[in-house]
Amino acid sequence: MSIPFYVQAAWFAGALLFIFGLKGMSSPTTARRGIVWAGVGMLVAIIGTFLVPHLNNIGLMLLALVVGASAAWISGKKVQMTDMPQMVAIYNGMGGGAAAAIAAIEFAKGDVHSTGTLILAVLGALIGAVSFTGSCVAFGKLQGLIKKAHRLPAQNTVNVALAVAAIVLGFMMVAFAPASGWLIVLFFIVALVLGVVVTMPIGGADMPVVISLFNAFTGLAVGFEGYVLGNPALIIAGIVVGAAGTLLTQLMAKAMNRPLANILFTPITGEAQGGQAIAGSMKELSAIDAASLMRYGSKVIIVPGYGMAVAHAQHKVWEMAGLLEKAGVEVKFAIHPVAGRMPGHMNVLLAEAGVPYDKIFDLEEINEEFGQADVALIIGANDVVNPSARTDKSSPIYGMPILNADYAQNVIVIKRGKGTGYSGIENALFYTDNCRMLYGDAQPMAGEIIQNLKALE
Ligand code: TAP
Repeated sequence: MSIPFYVQAAWFAGALLFIFGLKGMSSPTTARRGIVWAGVGMLVAIIGTFLVPHLNNIGLMLLALVVGASAAWISGKKVQMTDMPQMVAIYNGMGGGAAAAIAAIEFAKGDVHSTGTLILAVLGALIGAVSFTGSCVAFGKLQGLIKKAHRLPAQNTVNVALAVAAIVLGFMMVAFAPASGWLIVLFFIVALVLGVVVTMPIGGADMPVVISLFNAFTGLAVGFEGYVLGNPALIIAGIVVGAAGTLLTQLMAKAMNRPLANILFTPITGEAQGGQAIAGSMKELSAIDAASLMRYGSKVIIVPGYGMAVAHAQHKVWEMAGLLEKAGVEVKFAIHPVAGRMPGHMNVLLAEAGVPYDKIFDLEEINEEFGQADVALIIGANDVVNPSARTDKSSPIYGMPILNADYAQNVIVIKRGKGTGYSGIENALFYTDNCRMLYGDAQPMAGEIIQNLKALE
C-alpha cells in the first residue's frame, strides 16, 4: 500500500518534533517545553496515522487510544515524584510490548517476505518482548510487589541458554517464512521468559540502570518495527530513544562505577555486602546549633539526596538557603549524578522549588570547593557522600565517585535515624570528628533551622 504524501509529511513532522523535544529535555530550563514538543509530535504522528487511506479497525484504534490516554492521564496526575522510576519502567515496558505485538501480527499475517525485513522484525520482536517482561519485573520490584532478588542456580547459563534458544527460533522464523503458528508462539514464549529470568536476580540498587537499558532496547525494537511497517516516525523516534537510553545507561553505570556486564551478570542483591567495620560514634547537634554554624559561616554547600525527595523538603530547603544568603552566606547546591532514584532527580526537585540553575553544581564542578566550605549540609543523602567509596576496597560502592562533603570544616547531616542508604551499607562520614547528626524528617528539620535563622536575624 502506498502511503500518501501528507501522511508521510505528518509522520516526518512528528519525528522532527520528537528530536526537538529531546533536545529541549537536555536542560532544566527548556525541559518543560521539550516535553510539550514531544507530546505534540506524538499527536501529529497519531493524526497522520488516522489519515492513512483504507484503514481497518478504526473503532478498535480509538478504543485503544481512549484506554491508553486515560490510564496515562490518571497515573501521571497521581504519581508521586518518588515513584517515578517504576512509572518509567512500566511505560517503557508497554513500548517494548507494543513493538513485539506489531511483530507478532506481521508474522501471523505472513506477508513479510524480504529476508532483511524479516531479520529486523525478529530482532525487534525479541528485544521488545525482553524489554516488556523485564520492565514489568522492574516495576514489580520498585513498587514492592516483588520483594526479593531471585537468583537461579547456574543463572548465567540459563540466561545464555534462553538467549540462544530465542535466536535459533528467530533464525528459523526467517529461514522458513512464513513461520508456522507454533514456531511464532514458541519464539515469543522464550523471549518473554528471557526478560523475566534476566531481570529477577537484579537488586533494587541497580534497577534504574536496568530500566534505562530496557528503555534503549524498547527504542531499538520500535525502530526495527518502524522499518517493517515503513513508518519513518517510528524509525526516527525508536532510534532517538535507543541512542538516548544507551547513553543514559552508560552514564549511570559510570556514575555508580558498576560496569554494565557486572550489573546484568553479577548483580548486587540489595542486601548489604562487604565494607570494613567503622569505629567511633555518631554525634548529635540541635537545630539551633545547625542554624548558628551556618549563619556565622561564609560558605555553605548543600548536598540533597533521596531523603529530601521522600520528605518533600525542597521548598523549605530553598527558603532556608534564602535566609542564609540574606545573612551574607554564600550557598551552593551540590548534585551527585545518581543522587535520589532517577537521573536528574535532585535537579528536578530543586528546579520545582525555584532554586536558580546557577546555584546548582555537578560533582566535577563543586568537588574542589568542599575544602573551603564552613559547612556541608547533607539532607537525606547517604551513599553519594560515603568516603568508603574512596578508600575501602571491600565496600560494594568502592570506586563510585562521591561528593567530597567530608572535606568541609563542618558536616551536618539531616536524616531520620541510623538508616543506611540504597546500597545498604554504613557511612563512615557520619562517624568522623567534624560530622554532626540532626535527626528527624528533612522537612520539619529544615523548618526548625528556618525558625532559628529567623530568630538570629
Ligand atoms: P541514599 O543513599 O539512598 O540515602 C538516603 C538517606 O535518606 C537514607 O540514609 C535515609 O536515612 C535518609 N532518609 C530517608 N527518608 C528521609 C526523610 N524523610 N527525611 C530525612 N532523611 C531521610 O540516597 P542518596 O545519597 O541520594 O544515594 C542514591 C543511591 O541510589 C545511591 O546508592 C545510588 O547508586 C542509587 N541509585 C541511584 C540512581 C539514580 S539514577 N539516581 C540509580 C540507581 C541507583 P534514614 O532512614 O536514617 O532517614
